[in-house]
Amino acid sequence: MNAPWKPAGSDGRDPFHAYVCDDHSLDLLRAVVQDMGWPIEKVHKGGLRNAVQSLSMAPSPNVLFVDLSESGDPLNDINNLAEVCEPGTVVIASGQVNDVRLYRDLVASGIQDYLLKPMAADTLRDALAAAQAVFLAPRAESTDDRPHLMVTVIGTRGGVGASTVTTSLAYLSSTKAKRSTALLDLDVHFGTGALAMDLEPGRGLTDAVENPSRIDGLFIERAMVRASDTLALLSAEAPINQPLITDGSAYYQLEEELRSAFECTFVDLPRAMLVQHPHLVHESNLVVIVTEFTLASARDTIRILSWLKTNAPQSQVIVVANKAQAGIAEITRKDFEHSIERKIDSVLPYDAKVTAQAAKLGKTVADSGRSSKLGQSLVALHGHLVAVAEGDNAAGPAGGGKGGSLIGRLMDVKLALPRKGKAKFVPEAVAE
Ligand SMILES: Nc1ncnc2c1ncn2[C@@H]1O[C@H](COP(=O)(O)OP(=O)(O)O)[C@@H](O)[C@H]1O
Ligand SMILES: [Mg+2]
Repeated sequence: MNAPWKPAGSDGRDPFHAYVCDDHSLDLLRAVVQDMGWPIEKVHKGGLRNAVQSLSMAPSPNVLFVDLSESGDPLNDINNLAEVCEPGTVVIASGQVNDVRLYRDLVASGIQDYLLKPMAADTLRDALAAAQAVFLAPRAESTDDRPHLMVTVIGTRGGVGASTVTTSLAYLSSTKAKRSTALLDLDVHFGTGALAMDLEPGRGLTDAVENPSRIDGLFIERAMVRASDTLALLSAEAPINQPLITDGSAYYQLEEELRSAFECTFVDLPRAMLVQHPHLVHESNLVVIVTEFTLASARDTIRILSWLKTNAPQSQVIVVANKAQAGIAEITRKDFEHSIERKIDSVLPYDAKVTAQAAKLGKTVADSGRSSKLGQSLVALHGHLVAVAEGDNAAGPAGGGKGGSLIGRLMDVKLALPRKGKAKFVPEAVAE
């Protein structure tokens, strides 16, 4: 019953079947199942034996509920069930026996959960939702032997659009590249990854930080929120009335687990976390620095590039200038590139209409704004990222450049800016 992940509904399987022994369970299941949008006619009267009989002749559902009350030897019967049940089905059992040994044995034989009768509606609902999440979550076995790709996105300053870029790149990875993709939003208090995709972040990430010892593959499967068959998200809206105490090991462990469960991971990393937890970029294959054409962003791009050179020498770096508006930039592209001593890889145009529309629809900009110039620039950026990751190295090593003091380089840029009272400054067009 435990088997590699398959997208739901792709092979004609029903979402849910239940086989229950008593009328109370039957009524309860019908009510909960209806709430979950599953067909109630798949809730059958009859226990485990009926389940075995029916499933030996018909395709197995994604989630199966079986009542063990009438079973004399539950463990043996569960093993019979495993023989007729197709791989991937997540099984929940219920019964009257309150014995932790039985529970452990059932879990060991592949049962996802065991609910004691009489069941409460909330417990049943939670168990079914968790089972569905387990069914939908990807497993470690990948059909593809490409190495895992971990991309960390860092904004040089708040509001430059790092989260907008992260959600869009993750979306494109899951749809265009069709890779099973995880998005880890490490802005645990104020992250917008879930909001951008109209999802509830849940408590998974907060729980992980508070309790790192709980983090394992199963925890990941349960804690992640699905945006689609190929995209899952781990984020939080941690309470802001008390600090979250962590040495960062939970974040690192999460990255490890995501690496084994998904083909690609996109980490939205608030820049303050670089200072606190530098090890979070140690395994990144790619770092995307999102910046904009301002003096402050130029300074911080230089600083972050230099920091990456020391702290993530294994990582390729891509510099993305977002919110570019021809004619109203603080610094021209040329001066910006001069000061950071490397080329900008991608320029994304300012487009408030497209980003507002995405926010309203609860979709990523790459999704809802696909036909806009911004949407197409994001597709091009994703293509560049894949090319760099696959060894077609256009970005060069982290940091790069010929050295010189930060102040010296910024002064060069400042000298290029017009002085107050002088003729009107006409910057170069910044868009590509
Ligand atoms: N290219 C763009 N054009 C216009 N607005 C943008 C663009 N990129 C991002 N934004 C907007 O800027 C705001 C901040 O973006 P966000 O991704 O949350 O930034 P960050 O994560 O860097 O703080 C959001 O309202 C977003 O919609
Ligand atoms: Mg952000």
